[in-house]
Amino acid sequence: MSNLSVNHLLGIKYITKNDIELILETAKSFKEVINRPIKKVPSLRDLTVANLFFENSTRTRLSFELAQKRLSADVVNFSAASSSVKKGETLIDTVNNILAMKVDMVVMRHSSAGAAEFLSRKVKSKIVNAGDGAHEHPTQALLDAFSMQEKIGDLKGKKIAIVGDILHSRVALSNIFCLQKLGAEVKVCGPITLIPKYIESLGVKVETDLRKTLEWCDVANMLRIQLERQDIKFFPSIREYTMLYGLDKTLLDSLSKKILIMHPGPINRGVEITSEVADCSQSIILDQVENGVAIRMAVMFLLAGRQ
Ligand code: CP
Repeated sequence: MSNLSVNHLLGIKYITKNDIELILETAKSFKEVINRPIKKVPSLRDLTVANLFFENSTRTRLSFELAQKRLSADVVNFSAASSSVKKGETLIDTVNNILAMKVDMVVMRHSSAGAAEFLSRKVKSKIVNAGDGAHEHPTQALLDAFSMQEKIGDLKGKKIAIVGDILHSRVALSNIFCLQKLGAEVKVCGPITLIPKYIESLGVKVETDLRKTLEWCDVANMLRIQLERQDIKFFPSIREYTMLYGLDKTLLDSLSKKILIMHPGPINRGVEITSEVADCSQSIILDQVENGVAIRMAVMFLLAGRQ
């Protein structure tokens, strides 16, 4: 199959296993392109893309922009903090004004769950969800799967742990959908107050003991505590969280096998993982960032209908 089954990338929930495999396979070719001396191809030179970031971002925003430039697309960047949103303009008015300038594709990050889906119903452009509230972050899950496959091969039957603030994490939900579609087993681990009650209904195992989780898994994806999405206290203190759920080198080295360590970033060094773990040979955190460009090139190339 050489086409995606969807017109927009709104979430991993809405795409098929074939779609995921097509994106991962296409990203392999683009990874080769971005490692050549001339890192650019003309594939999207007739396309204009708007990057609309209503919420802060470093990795996602930069890698989408780099991916667009590597594909020779024309790019416009919009950041809510320096826009007329500050004067009260609505999302739909903002987007319609940008689209009046003839934009073919919109990459959007927004703090509200469902914002990308809402937009896809209102405008004709292709929409790529770059993270919507605590809902989905599909390109993060795709780059995570790609990075795991590079290191441990086919994910069918592999054991993947997602550790930390599952409740507020769009990375967790997109990873769960993606890994399960690829045949992996998923376990979430964290304080019970940070694990949504519905999670077991998705076929995910739940564990509150970090050591048991790490002994079980092949890969541990360590998530950040998202204090910006917490208006009440979910655990007594950061210090206690780190004592129970922080990963340090002593714990990592004491495990009976070598596991891979991932983190979507931004890292709170010394909270969910120590610097020694983030920078050790088992960590693939910077591979994830590198692969983000190839994955985003593949997503935009396929959504634009190129083969
Ligand atoms: N992983 C991720 O989404 O990072 P940013 O918030 O910096 O884009």
